[in-house]
Amino acid sequence: MISRDIIDEIVYRNDIEQVIGSYVTLKRAGSNMNGLCPFHNEKTPSFTVFPATKSFYCFGCGAGGDVISFIMREENLDYVDALEFLAARAGITIPHDNEPPDEHGIPRKRVYEMNLAAARFFRECLSDEKYGKEAMSYLTEKRQLSMATIRHFGLGCSPDSGWALTNHMKRLGFSDEELSAGFLCGIGKNSGKPYDYFRNRVIFPIIDTTGNVVAFGGRVLDDSKPKYLNTSDTPAFKKSKHLFALNFARRCCSERMILCEGYMDVIALHAAGFENAVATLGTAITSEQARIFAKYTKQVVICYDSDNAGQTAAQKAIRLLGEVGVDVRVLKLEGAKDPDEYIKKFGADAFRRALEGGISGFDFKLGSIISQYNLALAEDVIKASGAVCSMIAAMPSQVERDIGIRKASEILRVSPEAMQNDVEHARRRMRSAEKKRESEEAQRSIRSFGDRVNTDAAKNIRASRAEETLLGLMLIYDEFRAEAASGAVGLSADDFVTSLGRRIFEALCELERSERGFSKAMLGEYFNIDELGRIEKIEQERRALARNDKEVFLASIDSLKKESGKSEGNSSDPFADLRRMQALHKQAKEKKNV
Ligand code: UTP
Ligand code: MN
Repeated sequence: MISRDIIDEIVYRNDIEQVIGSYVTLKRAGSNMNGLCPFHNEKTPSFTVFPATKSFYCFGCGAGGDVISFIMREENLDYVDALEFLAARAGITIPHDNEPPDEHGIPRKRVYEMNLAAARFFRECLSDEKYGKEAMSYLTEKRQLSMATIRHFGLGCSPDSGWALTNHMKRLGFSDEELSAGFLCGIGKNSGKPYDYFRNRVIFPIIDTTGNVVAFGGRVLDDSKPKYLNTSDTPAFKKSKHLFALNFARRCCSERMILCEGYMDVIALHAAGFENAVATLGTAITSEQARIFAKYTKQVVICYDSDNAGQTAAQKAIRLLGEVGVDVRVLKLEGAKDPDEYIKKFGADAFRRALEGGISGFDFKLGSIISQYNLALAEDVIKASGAVCSMIAAMPSQVERDIGIRKASEILRVSPEAMQNDVEHARRRMRSAEKKRESEEAQRSIRSFGDRVNTDAAKNIRASRAEETLLGLMLIYDEFRAEAASGAVGLSADDFVTSLGRRIFEALCELERSERGFSKAMLGEYFNIDELGRIEKIEQERRALARNDKEVFLASIDSLKKESGKSEGNSSDPFADLRRMQALHKQAKEKKNV
């Protein structure tokens, strides 16, 4: 357990405005700061930092908490790792013994150990005369990879046996549960026994920026299906938050990164000297990944496969990357289906030249719209112009819109003034649709957010409101917390109706009574990030109302006691009706038999 002094020190030395400010552009709004929420997509800022309470809350998605919760969410870390991250940032050393397990009961570090051992096993298999022969010749001959590249990426292979890895890992002391939680094994439906998830495949380890092996991709050696298997999300891994080869690319990517579709594309590009290439992990790019790019680089060159799927995927990537403000270019490779094949056919120099000739995201979209129409027909010109105007209207910068209009009007041979008008019109329409959508979404997410985090709140609305008032006051005022924890006001955990409310109450009391004493920064030991967001909301809502607090405190205790008494009465025997029916049924049967 980390001592309270150190936790407080970590929070104190990591100024919340500065920390959040390094991820989010914040603007001052009165005594608070506003910005676009990094945890959901929005165009109008609902993300607020409260310097006075050293906390943040997003009114759109319900994310919230202190600087520790922010890092937990943003860096995808658990509580202890977030503390370590912030400690390192402030130059504090944490003395620590054993860390608490994560929600699956397996500590993240254990998953890393497991993956590292598995990666070593796969690598050894690849250099094994017998087991690795076929995979090795696939990589070196068919895919023309050098031994240096194979070693650099730590490539390996999984034997065909079905139990090779499982047996090896069990000898190393990993349990069935650990292996299946880490996605290295499946558990047989009938036998209940674990078996290798990856069989007879080339293995690509996926390594995060701190050097942990977080996942694997495995490719078949022939044309069988599925071509790739990938690790699903585990306690240590969310595929939407990682990029393949970012561990290498991060060293040389401040000016530009290359985004491709496949593991093999990335490997071929690195081998040819383009070490700033990365790929998503078998999925279309997510907004989280777009934010990773924004963190590391100024420009992203999208270099997807030249088939239709690749070109459609490029549209989405242009949008998401545009939204986070990186300069987007698109490379359309002529004469090859993907970067891997292009480099093999035409060489690294040709690719380098192609890279400089990448077209802007705008030109790419303009081109793909115009190609759908026959500009010799007046009717088509009108339609094309309409589509182009909607596309331009969605661009955030006025200057870029003006340049876009000039370009498009020349190609379409229509007047720029007319296009300007249409663009303005489309923008007004979009803005009102956007506003409507955002407010609907915010309401929906607040509603479902409440349901998701505090699932029983809906059972007794009045009681859960009283709970929130009480807990808010206990969070804000030391004296109310002390009174409640000492039992002086006659309140106990049993008075709480929702299980989240009860848990918050218990955590506050436990911390209050503990030798360490209460600090809000320690709530991360008890709650997950969604619950921490909810706790922040409870506190902020109460703060916004703070008036006659002593009276409100006592009144809400009263009302909670009344409500919880009532709900007990209601639910004293949920099966009463059923039992009555069964009794009647039995009686009827007995009568018949007589
Ligand atoms: P590709 O089919 O383009 O694969 O899929 P590739 O990496 O270029 O491989 P080669 O050159 O055909 O050997 C692109 C990416 O999509 C994911 C993988 O991440 C792959 O690298 N993918 C593809 C899957 O996750 N599962 C599949 O079945 C296929
Ligand atoms: Mn490919």
